[in-house]
Parts: sequence; structure tokens; C-alpha cells
Amino acid sequence: MSDSASQRLNLIHNHLNNNNMTKSSMSVFQDVAQAPPDPIFNLTAQYKADTFDKKINVGVGAFRTDELKPYILPVVKKAKVILHENEALDHEYLPIAGNPSYTKAAAKLILGADSPAMKEGRFAAVQTLSGTGANHTGALFLSKFYTKSKKCYISNPTWANHRSIFSLVGFDVQEYPYWQPETRGLDYERLLQCMREAEEGSIFVLHACAHNPTGVDPTRDQWKAIAQVMREKNHLPFFDCAYQGFASGDLDKDAWAVRYFVEQGFELFVCQSFAKNFGLYGERTGNLTLVTKTPADAQRVLSQIEKLQRAEISNPPAFGSRIVDIVLNDPSLYQEWKDNLKYMSSRIIEMRHALQQHLIDLQTPGTWDHITNQIGMFSFTGLKQPQVKVLREKYHIYMTDNGRISMAGVSSKNVAYLAKSIDDVVRNVPV
Ligand SMILES: Cc1ncc(COP(=O)(O)O)c(C=O)c1O
Repeated sequence: MSDSASQRLNLIHNHLNNNNMTKSSMSVFQDVAQAPPDPIFNLTAQYKADTFDKKINVGVGAFRTDELKPYILPVVKKAKVILHENEALDHEYLPIAGNPSYTKAAAKLILGADSPAMKEGRFAAVQTLSGTGANHTGALFLSKFYTKSKKCYISNPTWANHRSIFSLVGFDVQEYPYWQPETRGLDYERLLQCMREAEEGSIFVLHACAHNPTGVDPTRDQWKAIAQVMREKNHLPFFDCAYQGFASGDLDKDAWAVRYFVEQGFELFVCQSFAKNFGLYGERTGNLTLVTKTPADAQRVLSQIEKLQRAEISNPPAFGSRIVDIVLNDPSLYQEWKDNLKYMSSRIIEMRHALQQHLIDLQTPGTWDHITNQIGMFSFTGLKQPQVKVLREKYHIYMTDNGRISMAGVSSKNVAYLAKSIDDVVRNVPV
């Protein structure tokens, strides 16, 4: 080959190489926008990075002891020993809908042993990836098979994931009024009005107890009125129950609203999480129960949910559900679990009283009754975003921007510091 011919060949070669380079250096994902960090997980990361010795994390919704340590329930420790010693257990897959003994026990826990739906066999249950998975699986099924309405109503405010979960599967997500800032209570009349005006057959996501983030639940009479309007409008109740037994310390009391709707003849979905009440946060132990008109309806719905579950996760994780299964099906462990629940809910209630008392002693402007009136893990303080910011930057106290405090992050050791800091921002930070 002549020199000039080989030069030409080199040039062509380089040109091709450069072209490939430019092509391969551009990602097919270059147009993907950066998503904002999750507010709650980001708050925990900021808290962890903070080196101040009096820092407080009242952002995350996980129970802590008075020493602010994660709590492994004593009954869970016992169940783990039983599990460990059971030589018959293996690591085979669970059925698609999960362990039937677990799902049945979970359904009984929320619906009640005397539930007409259970007695008549017109219910079905599927094991899910904790409460989030239960919400997702229910929402996914409804997005494909519920034809009455594509409108789904969530409370304003609500748990941050409700909107994401229901929008992800294609619902037109609307909000119903819930929190009334003036009374720091339920926006009852406007809630009912919204239900009356909503398109017939809309889905309403209802917090079964211990509403997150407000800690405000409807009274029983208010639940009755809500049920009546929902029946008039043929709305579909979609209960989310992430705190059964954690709210009042009483499993039955916390399930009252769900049971009332079932007694009234509603078809409904109910999501359960065993993250909080069993302390099984990372084990992703949840359940989705549905109640229908007939046993055949329940079985057909279940068959479709199983098909969806097969495509999404194939079958659920075993460990957490085995723990819950052992406890729920053993009368003495069940009793012990109730005692563990009492300990957790009582500590939270104690901290509510302590925080309130400190604020009263400091004569912090405003009224603080709502701290003890609200129930469950959270207190919706009424603090505004500029105050929350100062609490974070000046006092190293981490809470979500909406002024929600996880009472589990409050202890007998840090409550005075927390109250003094709140007192300062209430007096000195204009909103
Ligand atoms: C209202 C509500 N629903 C569902 C969940 C689901 O939690 P998990 O997926 O950890 O069970 C939570 C957790 O904070 C919650 O507050």
C-alpha cells in the first residue's frame, strides 16, 4: 500500500473512532432529571451527619426507647428463638399470596374474630411488602379492575407516599380536607362536603387510626357520618392501617373504624403494616385484606392480585411474616405482644404529657392541648416552616417541614431541651 493510501485509511479509521467515541460518551439516560431527595430519609441523613451532642431526631416514624435506641420487642425475640429452633423450617419460596396462616391471622386481627366478612368467608388476604406494598398492591389492582371511577382521594395532609403510590398506577389523585389549622383538629364539615361532591364511586384512602401526620382521628360518631355519606355516594373505602395497637395501646379500639364499615356492609380494602406494632420495619411485613359481597368475589379478586404479585415480586419475603404468624397464633405470645404494645404506646403518651407540661411551664405562647389530644406516633405541632428551619439550624432538632414531631424521638432526657427550643422559635421567629 502507498503512503498516501495508508494515510487515507488512517484518517478514515480515526474519523470512525471519533464518531463512535462521541456516540458512546453520550448516555441514553442523559435526559433523566435528578429527582429530589426523599424528605424523611434525607432528614435522617442530615441528623446522622450532625455532631452536636444535644441533637434530636423527631423526623423519622420509628419507635425508640427512652434511651432513644431502636426497640426489639421481647415477644419478637422469643419468636426468633422458636423460629431458629424449628428444624423443619427451610428457605423455600412462600406461596404467591404469602403464608396462608399469617394472612388469615392478620385479616382476623384487623377485621375481628367475629367479623361478618370472616364468618361468611367473603374476604381474602395477601401478604405484601409491608404497608407500602399493601397500598401499592391494592392501588395497582384497583387501577386495572375498578371501573366506577379513576378518582382517588387522599387526606390533606397525608403520609407522603399515598400520592406517589396512587399516581404511579394512573389514578387522578385529589385531596379531601382533613386538618383544620385554627382548631388543630379535624376539618369535619369540609371533609363531608368533599365526599358529597366527589364523583360517584370515588376511592377514598382513609387512615384507620393514628392519622399520619396529624395524629387527629375522627370520633366514632364522625366515622358513622363519613360511612353514611360514602354509602350514599357509593364511594370505595381504602383503609390504611399502619398503627394498629400503637395508637391507643388497644388493638380492637384501633380497628374500630374498619370493623364498623364492614358491619355496615361495605366492600373495602385494608392495608396493614407490622413495621410499627411489631418493630419489624426493615423486614417489610404487611398484609392486604379485601372484603367483598360474596366469597366468590373475594376469590376472583385474589386470583387477579396473585397474578399481579407474581409479576412484581413473585412471592413475598418469609422472615417477618413467620415472626408475626408465631405470635398471632399463640395465645400466650399474643398476650405478651399486647403488653409490649402497651409499653410502646404508653411511652409515647407519657412524652406527649411531658412536652406539653414543659411548654405550659415555660408559658410558651399558644395552646398546647393538641399535643395530648392527638394520638399515635406523631404530633402535628402547628410550627411553621421558618420555625422548623431555625430549630434545625440553631438547635439541631430535625423534624419535617410541616412541623410534625415523631413523639418516639422524644425522651425524658431531651424533652426539656426540645421544649425550650420550641419556646424560643414560637416567641422569636416570625411566620
Ligand atoms: C399512614 C402510613 N401508611 C403506611 C405506612 C407504611 O409503612 P411501611 O411500608 O414501613 O409498613 C406508613 C409508614 O410510615 C404510614 O404512616
